[in-house]
Amino acid sequence: MTQDELKKAVAQAALRHVVPDAVIGVGTGSTVDFFIDALAGMRERVRAAVSSSERSTARLRAHGIEVLDLNQVEHLPVYIDGADEIDPGGAMIKGGGGALTREKILAEAAARFVCIVDASKLVALLGAFPLPVEVVPMARELVRRRLRELGGDARLREGFVTDNGNQILDVHGLRIEHPAELEHRLNQVPGVVTVGLFARRGADVALIGGADGVTQRDFD
Ligand code: A5P
Repeated sequence: MTQDELKKAVAQAALRHVVPDAVIGVGTGSTVDFFIDALAGMRERVRAAVSSSERSTARLRAHGIEVLDLNQVEHLPVYIDGADEIDPGGAMIKGGGGALTREKILAEAAARFVCIVDASKLVALLGAFPLPVEVVPMARELVRRRLRELGGDARLREGFVTDNGNQILDVHGLRIEHPAELEHRLNQVPGVVTVGLFARRGADVALIGGADGVTQRDFD
């Protein structure tokens, strides 16, 4: 099976986690694109969506699914999104697509986070995938120095501006033994908008597409 076929299989399996007639949280990325396309098949049972990026919003609307502002939504039963890496405890690196801030907001708002990945995203230790950190542009070099003190080589994502008008540093060379601690520590650096570590609020469920089909892991 190709990687795209694995992504399609988990996207399809995620439909079982959609709560009928409720607002659904939708993430960003190529796996989520497959999920949005699959969701279109049950459009009449989706009340509306909230989305973590302009990209996903456009795709949802193209399928005729209404997209609401999160401020209009009081209860979000489930949020479905991909990840760049996920560890055995359900902690993730996210933000390869640059949508980490809105993703973290939706993850926080949702009662349940369902992560959809192909098996290549499973890791024993987070950090081989460069950790995305969204920064206010004027603080970029300050944050870069702080990251260097922690052993990270932070590189500016050239030519990229987030949906919030900020920049992304991709941090190479980290071996993340204690993800929740590192997330907390980096959150304290002024100028950091969002760290692409999702450990303090990790996944509740992972759907993993592998050669033998889709398997489910529950973390709660
Ligand atoms: C987007 O900012 C990311 O957090 C994505 O969830 C992540 O990059 C996974 O994307 P793919 O499904 O394209 O691998």
